[in-house]
Amino acid sequence: MYEELTAKAAQAAKNAYAPYSHFAVGAALLCADGTVFCGCNVENASYSATVCAERSALFAAVSAGKRHFTALAVHTPDSCEAFCPCAVCLQTLSEFCGSDLKILCTAPGRQETYTLGELLPHAFRLGGGTE
Ligand code: THU
Repeated sequence: MYEELTAKAAQAAKNAYAPYSHFAVGAALLCADGTVFCGCNVENASYSATVCAERSALFAAVSAGKRHFTALAVHTPDSCEAFCPCAVCLQTLSEFCGSDLKILCTAPGRQETYTLGELLPHAFRLGGGTE
């Protein structure tokens, strides 16, 4: 099950637009209804307008009407020192996902599984956001 999700993240990484960092990332988000939405990082010359793979996948899913998620796979084919979603993506995920969201991270020579609660134990919340 999660192997399939990771394979989808690896496939999505092939679409990464990363001419500045040369660091490709793919993400696959599993919805509670079993559907999967994928995303890749899309960089921009302004750098700050870059969108990570995780948010690309989440925004695609929410744009399609999904609000409930159970797992996220992220993959890079490129080598790195540590690999998990960045803090901005974790905060964005926390808007829709519970602390039990599984986050599966794979990179060359590494495979780690976390929960959202482990990676972001103290999310910012205004309240009133969840519909
Ligand atoms: N990036 C992601 O897409 N997801 C992550 O988990 C970490 C970083 C992207 C942003 C940027 O395009 C490139 O990787 C280098 O930071």
